[in-house]
Amino acid sequence: MKLWGGRFTKPTNRLVEEYNASITFDQELAEEDIQGSIAHVTMLGACGVLSQSEADQIIEGLEKILQKIRAGEIEFSIENEDIHMNIEKLLIEEIGPVGGKLHTGRSRNDQVAVDMHLYVRKQTVEMVRLLTQLQRVLIEQAEQHVDTILPGYTHLQRAQPVRFAHHLLAYVSMFERDIERLIDSYKRVNTCPLGAGAIAGTTFPTDRHMVAKHLGFDRIYDNSMDAVSDRDYLVEFLSICSLIMVHLSRLSEELILWTSEEFNYIVLDDAFCTGSSMMPQKKNPDIPELIRGKTGRVFGHLIGLLTTLKALPLTYNKDLQEDKEGVFDTVKTLTGALSIMAPMLQTMKVNKEQMKKNAESGFSNATDLADYLVNKGLSFREAHEVVGKLVLYCIEQDKYLAGCTLDEFQRFSKLIEQDVYDKIACEQVVEARISLGGTAKNQVLKTLSEKKKKMDETLSWLSIVY
Ligand code: ARG
Repeated sequence: MKLWGGRFTKPTNRLVEEYNASITFDQELAEEDIQGSIAHVTMLGACGVLSQSEADQIIEGLEKILQKIRAGEIEFSIENEDIHMNIEKLLIEEIGPVGGKLHTGRSRNDQVAVDMHLYVRKQTVEMVRLLTQLQRVLIEQAEQHVDTILPGYTHLQRAQPVRFAHHLLAYVSMFERDIERLIDSYKRVNTCPLGAGAIAGTTFPTDRHMVAKHLGFDRIYDNSMDAVSDRDYLVEFLSICSLIMVHLSRLSEELILWTSEEFNYIVLDDAFCTGSSMMPQKKNPDIPELIRGKTGRVFGHLIGLLTTLKALPLTYNKDLQEDKEGVFDTVKTLTGALSIMAPMLQTMKVNKEQMKKNAESGFSNATDLADYLVNKGLSFREAHEVVGKLVLYCIEQDKYLAGCTLDEFQRFSKLIEQDVYDKIACEQVVEARISLGGTAKNQVLKTLSEKKKKMDETLSWLSIVY
């Protein structure tokens, strides 16, 4: 017998039953569903909608069911469609007909909404925690590599040398923005839809603020129709997760490039690589490749949900049941990627010599030579032209700028003197960029300490958040 079977004269077609059911995936929400039900029933008892003893019996029954679910003793059934009706059925079996009072003044529409809010709230916090953990590893590596110099690239061509710390700190900044986004989205996630009923509210004298407070929500939805049909917080969550994946994927791409023999900048620990079934010499960066590869499914879930929502009339439509699997899969994908990226970065070995060698071979000091000429009185555009011709000359002569004799330099500009060699030396080039956020050592050290401070702020947010 279905919980909603009263107006039906026939059993549900078996195919319909399977097609319609969400229990195979929404059992993920069991804990949140019970948490929400306990808050609801507590309020019904307090407001006199149920007697205190009825409320107590229901709460006790729900707690027993929660224990059984945690112990793996419950088998959910497709006949009971979703997690909400499965639990209600179990409750009635557990405590008898009084269990049928749980759903007073509530609909599955506001129930599923509250479950998802609780779930995403929990995952938002977890994601911030994992991102902070990753930032910590990046910061530790950066601290080790303040004096490690490698070429910085534009167009994947050597551009200007940078400190490896500076390069790693760029990712710390990206993840810092991700954390800011998650923390900002938290206030929208932490809004309680329960009490909206199916669409229009309820006739019982309920107290929505009491429920919200019980569940740790900061506020309630102020419109019952919005409460049951809003999925903006899920779109927001998926879009933040998509950006996190973009950052992880870009980092992965660099790790993949850097481990290749062509770069030879880093060595990933054996514990984080895999081999080839045929080529005995291979050690492959499968993990960063997988992270890069899994970015696609996360983007897909975002676009999938946006597409589901587009043109849905108010309020609840069964289409909305499609909001869950993508979110669950996104959480699984992100938690996996973030958890594995941290120890992989922590254990990587950095080949400083190779980085330095590449920074010194090439023309990544060409801008500095131009700036040198500007300081001697040329306009930047004229200086650019002179150095461009010099670079061309060097390419023909198969040498780099620092390999030119003073005589060769002076053939291109009489302004070049002996002090030029200091100015175009790799360390000096890095150290000369003293502008805020540049590569000079004191700038990098300043950023490092700012990032650590920001990380502490995140940790204190994590310690007070629900
Ligand atoms: N399983 C449903 C979902 O995930 C729960 C809400 C069902 N509401 C309804 N009116 N059929 O969306």
